Amino acid sequence: METISPLATEVRPYGNAAIAEASRLILAGQCVAVPTETVYGLAADATNRAAVAGIYAAKGRPAFNPLIVHVPDLESAERLAVFDEAARALANKYWPGPLTLVLAARADNGIAALATAGLSSIAIRVPAHPAMQELLRVSGKPLAAPSANASGSISPTRAAHVFKSLAGRIPLIIDAGATQAGLESTIIALTDGVPRLLRPGPVDLGLALSTGGNIEAPGQLASHYAPSKPLRLSATSAEEGEWLIGFGPTPCHANLSAAADLAEAAANLFDLLHHADASNHPKIAVAPIPFEGLGAAINDRLARAAA
Ligand code: TXA
Ligand code: MG
Repeated sequence: METISPLATEVRPYGNAAIAEASRLILAGQCVAVPTETVYGLAADATNRAAVAGIYAAKGRPAFNPLIVHVPDLESAERLAVFDEAARALANKYWPGPLTLVLAARADNGIAALATAGLSSIAIRVPAHPAMQELLRVSGKPLAAPSANASGSISPTRAAHVFKSLAGRIPLIIDAGATQAGLESTIIALTDGVPRLLRPGPVDLGLALSTGGNIEAPGQLASHYAPSKPLRLSATSAEEGEWLIGFGPTPCHANLSAAADLAEAAANLFDLLHHADASNHPKIAVAPIPFEGLGAAINDRLARAAA
């Protein structure tokens, strides 16, 4: 049996020294946790098969679940995938930002087949966070980066969440505080002319979630983002043993947004799920969240956390 000796995991504040060290590790084929505007990502050189394999190993992620490849700008993205007018229009409007496009991959793009799980399509994103932007530019590599958490568990919006989930498995976490959006990027597939929503997120294009018979974003398994305790949805008050996550002006253990602001609730969602999971209450309950706008993405994550 393979034994993985634990790594010393360093947490460094975001800055030039941390980016230089992260870039050195990336070029040496290692993975590094780095903040984006959505959640913290676990980045590795997408052109290096062994480095990409290291992401799957650190997360315990099934290798049939492909990764998002991050690039610094549209020009770099066009070297990896085929953009039609519709794709270019979305890229121009939302990049850099929390939108991932699934497009037909270029055959000679140099991306390790493991990063795309052997699919003929590729998921690409130009992130806005300066830490990820700088790491892309300093390393000069396209970076495969899933959320920096053990597969299936709650996504990380703070360096401490990453540390709790992956300490001993990765050499470096860059800490730039809490992420701004708090939910993973919106994923749109443009592989057959008509845009299809594969994962709701911070960018709202007014599309309904695509419900093709097969799982189109293989990572969108029904049970995901799961805390270790039972989670009850649409709870109007705490029952025996429950730690209640509220929304709007209501008594609760912690509030997603007392002002019922959906952007604030999205930014706080995973942090409060981490808190609830670590509390001494055996169960978690969450207040009803309206479905409009960002509420669709919040409810999507909650449904998976409760499944
Ligand atoms: O905000 C985000 O997107 C974060 C940050 C780090 O960028 N990343 C992230 O990655 O959420 P991850 O691996 O947790 O989720 C990527 C999703 C998975 O559901 C995966 O199945 C889907 O993207 N995906 C990747 N490549 C795909 C492809 N070619 N076709 C369909 N879905 C794909
Ligand atoms: Mg994830």
